[in-house]
Amino acid sequence: MIGRLNHVAIAVPDLKMASASYKNTLGAIVSSPRDEPEHGVRIVFVDLPNTKIELLEPFGDESPIQAFLDKNPSGGMHHVCFEVDDILSARDKLKKEGARIIGDGEPKLGAHGKPVLFLHPKNFSGTLVELEQA
Ligand code: CO
Repeated sequence: MIGRLNHVAIAVPDLKMASASYKNTLGAIVSSPRDEPEHGVRIVFVDLPNTKIELLEPFGDESPIQAFLDKNPSGGMHHVCFEVDDILSARDKLKKEGARIIGDGEPKLGAHGKPVLFLHPKNFSGTLVELEQA
């Protein structure tokens, strides 16, 4: 059912520092920061030949990644995002398999303007999984 790894998202306490280490130390192509107030994050995209890394810094008071950073002050992997062809049929299949969908179960528009859903980490070895309709 799942297709390409669309991105790995890493929550960071300091986006400037994190961007600099990907750019200068790892030699990656790193975008300028982009504010996503409706998602409560400021994002930098790291372009890799086969996928992307998204560095996420909290933006605003109700950022969904603040609690994660409270538990992991130096940052860490926040979620992985897999592409699916049809998000509604993926959701229905996952529900049938007993996976827990976060929120009301309706796909929302994600950071790339495409429909996304998040699956509870308890079903996937402690990893938050995002599905994006490619
Ligand atoms: Co994501």
